Amino acid sequence: MLGQIINFKRLGDERGGLVAVEAERSVPFEIQRVYYIFGTKEGVERGFHAHKELRQVAVAISGSCEMILDDAALVETVALDAPDKGILIEPGIWHYMRNFSADCVLLVFADAHYDESDYIRSYEEFKGLGK
Ligand code: TYD
Repeated sequence: MLGQIINFKRLGDERGGLVAVEAERSVPFEIQRVYYIFGTKEGVERGFHAHKELRQVAVAISGSCEMILDDAALVETVALDAPDKGILIEPGIWHYMRNFSADCVLLVFADAHYDESDYIRSYEEFKGLGK
């Protein structure tokens, strides 16, 4: 598996759902940044990059989408379709997202602040790094 699935504990009860995410417990790093993707238009695919150092965990807290992971040898598709199902994306993994449901809210925890210089946005460059 290129992306480790993280199953968050469901703390909900008859009143409804509840999931708690704790740094260095439910995600294996200190959380420095949280961002979320929502209102994604039909047919949109986004991402298409790898990171040099950043570690992230993504979870569709509403709706669903697919995460495609690629290590330049294997390609894997993971359905993010439950609010207690996260995926750990390690550095050096090319990834993109597609098939967003209209109600998808994709929440992402990251271990560093935003830094454009940590991005590899060229697939050719990404492929070349593995050689
Ligand atoms: P972008 O990298 O295009 O998103 P995706 O990889 O999902 O296609 O990000 C869109 C814009 O938002 C881009 O100008 C960078 C900016 N951005 C931040 O400023 N901080 C962040 O944490 C993220 C994820 C993006």
